[in-house]
Amino acid sequence: MQQRYIILDGPNLNRLGRREPSIYGVVSSQEMMERLQHDFPNVTIEYHQSNHEGVLIDLLQQFDDEKVSGIIFNAGAYTHTSLALADAIRSLSTPVIEVHLSNTAAREECRHTSYIAPVVRGTITGFGIHSYRLALLAFLEG
Ligand code: DQA
Repeated sequence: MQQRYIILDGPNLNRLGRREPSIYGVVSSQEMMERLQHDFPNVTIEYHQSNHEGVLIDLLQQFDDEKVSGIIFNAGAYTHTSLALADAIRSLSTPVIEVHLSNTAAREECRHTSYIAPVVRGTITGFGIHSYRLALLAFLEG
């Protein structure tokens, strides 16, 4: 059976491509997914997004129950606030890689803390949409 990877985006990332393009770029999530699917034809890559913390928790638990191969997670601003998401990830057996489009360490101080970082396999930050590609490569070749 083909390996199944999930890209899970948190709040406001549904507006990628038109949200603060100088920070997050001009490519939409849909375009990014088309490029990834084209470049990695031998794996299934699914995209999910929610603006709601509880929905993100439900989805993480659901993907774990479905035994997906890995989850690439951009929790958006919840990265810096959500103990609930950190607890959810800690309870999974599925490996999770945290990604960010922007280099959060180079931004406001409130973005320097990640509740997610200590409970994931690793973090990739600052490479725009390529952060997602690098995370996928880490799963496939790591
Ligand atoms: C982000 C960084 C967060 O600080 C911010 O709240 C986002 C996007 C990123 O991908 O760079 O929504 O996760």
